[in-house]
Amino acid sequence: MSTRRELLASGAAIAAAMLVGCSNGSNPEDLVAVTVAKSDIPVGGGVVRAESGVVITQPEAGTFLGFTSVCTHQQCDVREVREDGIYCACHGSLFSITDGSPTAGPASAPLGFVVLVDNGDSLTHTP
Ligand code: FES
Repeated sequence: MSTRRELLASGAAIAAAMLVGCSNGSNPEDLVAVTVAKSDIPVGGGVVRAESGVVITQPEAGTFLGFTSVCTHQQCDVREVREDGIYCACHGSLFSITDGSPTAGPASAPLGFVVLVDNGDSLTHTP
């Protein structure tokens, strides 16, 4: 039978493991501004720029949208834009490329919008 001290220690170890597993969200102080060529953003898809904590999508030709790359479930960074949406590999949430709303997985809140500056052939996001 486990003692109270052993149970507390194992609970702390589990909590620490959960924090490590879910603490890879972007630290706002480490983010940098990025410039992305519009030609690098596929129509009907998007790109993730983890260095600035942003996802840039192009749902239809000439329409560019910016979202935060921090998943609203447990703050992992989303890492890719797939055919079916913006995907968070931590627990499988998917988000719409048109409005950031969750379409699958445990996340229930949308990704935050990010303001993009249109430079003509490129877009800039300042963290
Ligand atoms: S942190 Fe993204 S699905 Fe859980």
